[in-house]
Amino acid sequence: MIPVVDLRAEYVAVKAEIDGALQRVLESGWYILGQEVAAFEAEFAAWCGVFQAVGVGNGTDALHIALRACGVGAGDEVITVAHTAVATAAAIVLSGATPVFVDIDPTTYTLDPAQLAAAITPRTKAVVPVHLYGHPADLDGIFPIARDAGLRVIEDCAQAHGAEWQGQRAGSFGDLACFSFYPTKNLGALGDGGAVVSNDPALLERVRLLREYGWPPQNRYVSEIEGVNSRLDEMQAAILRVKLAHLDGWNAHRRALAAVYAAGLPDSVIKPVEQPGCRHVYHLYVIRSAERDSLREKLRAVGVATGIHYPLPIHRQTAYRHLSPVTLPVTEQAAGEILSLPMHSTLTVEQIEQVCAAI
Ligand SMILES: Cc1ncc(COP(=O)(O)O)c(C=O)c1O
Repeated sequence: MIPVVDLRAEYVAVKAEIDGALQRVLESGWYILGQEVAAFEAEFAAWCGVFQAVGVGNGTDALHIALRACGVGAGDEVITVAHTAVATAAAIVLSGATPVFVDIDPTTYTLDPAQLAAAITPRTKAVVPVHLYGHPADLDGIFPIARDAGLRVIEDCAQAHGAEWQGQRAGSFGDLACFSFYPTKNLGALGDGGAVVSNDPALLERVRLLREYGWPPQNRYVSEIEGVNSRLDEMQAAILRVKLAHLDGWNAHRRALAAVYAAGLPDSVIKPVEQPGCRHVYHLYVIRSAERDSLREKLRAVGVATGIHYPLPIHRQTAYRHLSPVTLPVTEQAAGEILSLPMHSTLTVEQIEQVCAAI
């Protein structure tokens, strides 16, 4: 079977370095918020082109903490998309606010700025664009509307490590930006992990307080604000430091594989598009077909695994459908047609050619 992702293969590719890093942490006697986390935060911030990064427990926490750092809470509304991981909406609900879903652009599957203005109410505090699949959302369209309305912009970069908009990396545009290091991500830990990044020292300070019970660094055990416990641990930080050094190469490999797909796939399926001025990092390689389900079944029969990201838009899910009673035609049609083909840092050109031939 050609898998959609292969987490073990990526570990094996850098095994000696990861094993060495883990040994270093084990011997250090310090396992939470120590030198590895501090070093990773500095290295990841530099890599993203931002002032600072704050390591947290996972990407959902990163979004929740970022929203709270911006003062979002009960009674507020936060605009985002329903075509994303449930985590985006779950984090908004965790903050006490209500997600308001708007439709997506049918080409990039990201928030359609044309839908944004109409969704803003006096209760709207923030907008969370999701750089889905590794392609940046339309920031030129989103920012002027958000800024005019006085909204905070929090980028969901969970799928967009290294994606670029006009030559600048995703995560360097919003008031705050949130990353996940879930193992399948372009930069994946061997467990959970996340980070909030920003150029705003005051917001970063609040994020640091919120991630550990509201404790200021000089006065542990005494909470200044109501925080949570969401710390990146030393082992994951050490693993992420190893993998970060390979990330540019891995992203380049993903892009090379995407080019092989683009050349080899038949015109009967709709291929992903890289908009001018954007750099797609193909966290997922998502095609579209009106005959998605039969295509998927036939691929499975010939040894090609596929995924669907995501099968049911959030506004249609039992847990969330009461929140935002909207119809989102582009989102709903996409959910029935999208198919994620194998895409990972260790897949080979030959494997991608086999998938193309099978399709
Ligand atoms: C778009 C998006 N946002 C947020 C998250 C949440 O990240 P995590 O799984 O680390 O909580 C994910 C990943 O699952 C994601 O894909």
